[in-house]
Amino acid sequence: MNAKVEISPIRFPVTDYPRTDDVLTHLPRHDPAEQRALVAEIKAELERQDAVLVAHYYTAREIQQLAEETGGYISDSLDMARFGHEHPASTLVVAGVRFMGETAKILNPEKRVLMPTLEAECSLDLGCPAGPFIDFCDQHPDRTVVVYANTSAEVKARADYVATSSIAVPLIEHLADEGHRIIWAPDKHLGSYIARVTDADLLLWNGACIVHEEFKSRAVGNLLAQYPDAAVLVHPESPASVLEVADVIGSTTQLIKAAKTLPNKHLIVATDKGIFYKMQQAAPDKVLIEAPTGGVGATCRSCAHCPWMAMNSLDQLLETLKTGRNEIHVDEVVRVKALRSTQRMLNFAATL
Ligand code: 13P
Ligand code: SF4
Repeated sequence: MNAKVEISPIRFPVTDYPRTDDVLTHLPRHDPAEQRALVAEIKAELERQDAVLVAHYYTAREIQQLAEETGGYISDSLDMARFGHEHPASTLVVAGVRFMGETAKILNPEKRVLMPTLEAECSLDLGCPAGPFIDFCDQHPDRTVVVYANTSAEVKARADYVATSSIAVPLIEHLADEGHRIIWAPDKHLGSYIARVTDADLLLWNGACIVHEEFKSRAVGNLLAQYPDAAVLVHPESPASVLEVADVIGSTTQLIKAAKTLPNKHLIVATDKGIFYKMQQAAPDKVLIEAPTGGVGATCRSCAHCPWMAMNSLDQLLETLKTGRNEIHVDEVVRVKALRSTQRMLNFAATL
């Protein structure tokens, strides 16, 4: 492919973020009887409040189980948005990170959108503050602005299109075919990957996911020496060196589908380990192996589990339902602008 790609020198590095282990250590612990009582109370509240739980694959197993048992949904960021938009419940409880709650509100202003915590950020969102991003776009008025869903409502409001990892490549391909020159933000790794597989002319924002950046290609290579029959499944937020050793690159849902259909017994998975709950359900006969996040003896900070996703707990979910706290609000002027680019994402996805 003949992509023309440039990475912006502007950077807002996200260095001051919680360690996942610290987040998990501070979550309340329950014995099985307490846990059952807690789950029963949440189920009753969901029903009483006409609420449905929409969870991302990276959230805790007990939250995913609760979504399964209550007619809710577990998926990637695109399908979370689609499901919330189509479901008749008047309250959406979004377990994930803030941009997922905001996307739900952008699409469904008439619905109440609650989240177990409003502290669940995303390094891609944090690394792309609206003011500097808008200035950057204004400096390149000839470029169509495509932003990853992992951004704030204000950033989506400046964008022409929103995309998730499941549609990023075909959307950019489509826009490039129409002659657009493109700004892609904020994930430079996903952007570089798109540049490798399309002919697009891309100017990339310089952001990254702190979880996927920790995967190490050399350590994946060592694992492959141990399991020579294994296939390597990689989320495209990972660095180029890790994508190079991948057999399948895709969104979380696409990786789960691949786990099911690939003939390989062993699968090395380079994405947040929260995905193993649904992946193992989809592929019960496969052996799932975590891709390493460091060399031998090295330390990791997220250790293949997003610290912000880890903040979603059953206790906070119940607290939110009882108090109505942690409701997502998006300024109406911003929302209407962000709806345009977000609705285009859904419209384009519907054509695939
Ligand atoms: P997906 O849309 O593939 O679920 O990705 C969301 C995300 O935040 C991955 O880190
Ligand atoms: Fe953001 Fe990375 Fe966490 Fe996904 S895993 S929510 S991209 S910080």
